[in-house]
Amino acid sequence: MRAYKILMVCLGNICRSPMAEGVLRNRIEQAGLKIIVDSAGTADYHTGEAPDYRAVSVLRKHGIDISGLAARQFNERDFDDFDEIYVMDQSNLNNVLTLARSEEDRLKVRLILNTVHPGLNRSLADPFYGDISHFEAVYAQLNQAAAAIISQLK
Ligand code: 4NP
Repeated sequence: MRAYKILMVCLGNICRSPMAEGVLRNRIEQAGLKIIVDSAGTADYHTGEAPDYRAVSVLRKHGIDISGLAARQFNERDFDDFDEIYVMDQSNLNNVLTLARSEEDRLKVRLILNTVHPGLNRSLADPFYGDISHFEAVYAQLNQAAAAIISQLK
């Protein structure tokens, strides 16, 4: 049987989704689970780039290294490759659902903060134009979401 696979998606794949990938992967390793985590952006602005230095620095402070990740664009094959697809905000949700080919595809897509605040459809704010405190706030929310995702899996 192939491993269970979870994809994190934001706009640029250099701030929120690589942070989400790093935080969830770290918790999965600590829990001793065999789950594959990846991330992608709906846009191709930053394809091939490493995560934003502020995202790298905040995660490093929390003991997680995401400096080796490289941005890639989300594409419709990701619906076949992944079991769950978490988007960061409403705009990501619309962009991903536009590419969905079936109800099966659509059912894989969830707003990440609904894992912590079910049904509220909250967006995880884009920190790109903010300062380091915005990246810390993103980390704190992703940490809660990753814990919730793991407890749902167990
Ligand atoms: P992300 O943040 O979607 O969390 O990776 C952004 C990164 C880059 C841009 C926008 C958001 N940008 O416009 O280049």
